Amino acid sequence: METLELKSTIQVCQVDELTAEEQHLVQLAIEATSRSYAPYSRFHVGAAVRLGNGVEMIGSNQENVAYPSGLCAERTALFAAGAQYPDVPVQMLAIAARGTDGEYTDEPVGPCGSCRQVIIESESRAGAPIRILLYGRRHTFVIDGIQPLMPLCFSEF
Ligand code: THU
Repeated sequence: METLELKSTIQVCQVDELTAEEQHLVQLAIEATSRSYAPYSRFHVGAAVRLGNGVEMIGSNQENVAYPSGLCAERTALFAAGAQYPDVPVQMLAIAARGTDGEYTDEPVGPCGSCRQVIIESESRAGAPIRILLYGRRHTFVIDGIQPLMPLCFSEF
């Protein structure tokens, strides 16, 4: 039997090390946390996507008393982009979150498994990796495409 080592590399930085375009998208994700509807978890997540035509769209988590009926911020943004601009590739996705104490998280929050699966599909549609910016007060993570977050993914059959 062999061992297959799966290695992921991501960049860790401060927001001011990002390009102006990236910083702007992170700012949109930060602001989007205030539009989250999260009366049950009180965990407010904001997402922002930048499309190939320069359009930026935001999403935030939208909860429901029937818990599974709610949706994460990332999918809210990606599905809105797909619904409004089906033929325009998603180029970048930024995510920020405020915890139950109302403060932005010190460390970045990673997308949940279902959102990762949706990001894979958005990449397939775009035909190029989506740059993912995960904001935290202490560190921001930059990931060039979903692959490091989702090795051995299911993307075709
Ligand atoms: N949530 C997101 O919006 N994105 C994620 O990637 C992780 C979790 C939301 C779902 C739910 O409304 C709340 O955070 C707590 O799980």
